[in-house]
Amino acid sequence: MKFETQVVHVGDRKRQAGTPTPSTTPIHLSTTYFHDSTTALDRIFGHEEEGLSYGRYRNPTNDALEDLTTAMEGGYGSLACASGMAALQIAFQAALLDRPHTILSAHSIYGATMKLLDNVLSPFDIKIVYVDICDLDAVKKAIDTHKPGCVFLESASNPTLRVGRIDKIAELTRAAGASLMVDSTFSTPMLIKPLQLGANMVVHSATKYLAGHGDVLGGIVISDQEHHETVRMLSRIAGPVLGPFESYLTMRGIKTLALRFARQCENAQKIACWLKTHPAVERVFYCADPQHPDAEAIKTQFTPGLYGAILSFEIKDLDKPKVMEFIDRLRLIVPGTSLGDVHSLMLYPVVASHRDVAPKMRERMGIRENLVRLATGIEAFEDIQADLDQALRAI
Ligand SMILES: Cc1ncc(COP(=O)(O)O)c(C=O)c1O
Repeated sequence: MKFETQVVHVGDRKRQAGTPTPSTTPIHLSTTYFHDSTTALDRIFGHEEEGLSYGRYRNPTNDALEDLTTAMEGGYGSLACASGMAALQIAFQAALLDRPHTILSAHSIYGATMKLLDNVLSPFDIKIVYVDICDLDAVKKAIDTHKPGCVFLESASNPTLRVGRIDKIAELTRAAGASLMVDSTFSTPMLIKPLQLGANMVVHSATKYLAGHGDVLGGIVISDQEHHETVRMLSRIAGPVLGPFESYLTMRGIKTLALRFARQCENAQKIACWLKTHPAVERVFYCADPQHPDAEAIKTQFTPGLYGAILSFEIKDLDKPKVMEFIDRLRLIVPGTSLGDVHSLMLYPVVASHRDVAPKMRERMGIRENLVRLATGIEAFEDIQADLDQALRAI
């Protein structure tokens, strides 16, 4: 099945003997399932038989969503979680369960993920090392020196859109016996499929492109067999699972992902191209740029013709109050701390996503005070362009 077909068919319409089949997966709210005999339940608890028993372990609505995301990424299995951060946390724990307690992470990542590493995991004797993931020599050296149990990167970094060579990093990681984990929130499986490039786990904030409408908080971990079994084992106890209503909404959102994301990418590419010529704009960060420092990685790994729907740009000579004024002048683009929705969203990293990142680290990430991030929606390109133009001209 092609991706566009998968997203509207996989997971739904599972037949059950004796009942007509619903055309879309219902929201199953029941937390508890009983069986004809305790022997049957015993077999389920003993893992001799697949089956439903308790909502923290499995839920039919989540099963449907998980089947779908597994197919979309080409993985062995998925876990639907209550947020992208919950998905990242359980994935890190799964990666490190039987491996050295060191995480080698790209230094250019979402601010909250950096906090998860530094403030949540590090106090539990997990060593965190940061590296420029686009510098393969530095990655190799760091793997040799620190012998990590897990290597982590974002498929396109937040917000400067650096793209590492997942295939090459996977080779280094595999040779060192470590797990490779990729946060693919920005790219979606339409742009890149990290498991097929050698990663062991892929994480999405489903809050973003997968659900796509700004009304769901969710996360997904999709893994190979070894990691999936560990993720599920941990999840049965730690219980970070997604609620069935959010699961339903995420699945409903995914059905239009192919249409939405294609349009969002097209809008981003046109806006990036136009902003490059705008007199108020100093620099544009976008993956279609032929001068992009990771053009080779983008060409080898991204689906041809798609470059993502996020771009960042620096506004000439603006300090923080002036950038804030620019954002306040937007009339259509929503100044919100998210991305991936049907409506365009503008984020100011130094105030929102990267607020708590130390200034020195921010500098290393390339995040300056005049940098803003735009996640294009599905609106008409001309309307997004006009809104940006009026706000840029006004300051
Ligand atoms: C790249 C990336 N990963 C993970 C997350 C966390 O996702 P959530 O807000 O669903 O917990 C975000 C949120 O903005 C993100 O941008």
